[in-house]
Amino acid sequence: MTQPVRLVGETGSTNEDMKALAAAGEPEGAWLRAEVQTSGKGRMGRAWQGDVGNLYASTLVRLGPLDQPAHSLALVIAVAVHEALSEFVGAGVLSLKWPNDVFAGNAKLCGMLLERVGDAIILGIGINIVSAPVLPDRETTCLRDLGAASCDAAHVLERVAEHFANSLAQWRTYGLEPLIRAWQARAHPPGTALAAQLPDGERISGAFEGLDAHGALILRLADGSRRVIHAGDVFLLN
Ligand code: BTN
Repeated sequence: MTQPVRLVGETGSTNEDMKALAAAGEPEGAWLRAEVQTSGKGRMGRAWQGDVGNLYASTLVRLGPLDQPAHSLALVIAVAVHEALSEFVGAGVLSLKWPNDVFAGNAKLCGMLLERVGDAIILGIGINIVSAPVLPDRETTCLRDLGAASCDAAHVLERVAEHFANSLAQWRTYGLEPLIRAWQARAHPPGTALAAQLPDGERISGAFEGLDAHGALILRLADGSRRVIHAGDVFLLN
């Protein structure tokens, strides 16, 4: 089923626009896409910048009393975007990094930002399609550089929206366990070296072990201890 998509030319942030739409009663399932953003927001207070031709879009989920915890939507959208983008670049090219970045090797292809307004969770996705922003601290890539043929932002969003609607329905019907398995099957392999910047400023590094039953990240530290990470910024270590 095709999801409804509103298109705007230039805006500050599609997440901010979707928050306003959510407050005005926008129903679950609607998408908003901008051709360019002037104040795009990333995780951890960072900016998200990019050229015309890349994808900037947001949707909203209205949480019900029986829904799984809101933070697990980060895994739902990650799995959906991974599935959709793999249609363009082939299987085995992309991997997920906790909680919801999509990577090709060590280069970031896509980022997602979840924000809450009342009972609505706003999910924003930024996908590098035609160009990869140059960042001081991270390698980036785009679908075009990965050899994706005939992809434009409208078509990529169509595929993402369809996969997301399916993943959301599965999350509601079957809960977290299959979702966590699906996420892990798309993640970098166990043992991958990761660093985590925690919300209190602590920085730790360790080997990726997987996710716990709630979707938190498990790291095995050099001293053999395990740390379960519920929030923070995670980096791949080469
Ligand atoms: C990240 O830091 O990895 C998350 C990036 C999320 C960017 C997208 S672009 C569309 C939506 N609107 C925003 O302002 N941010 C998200």
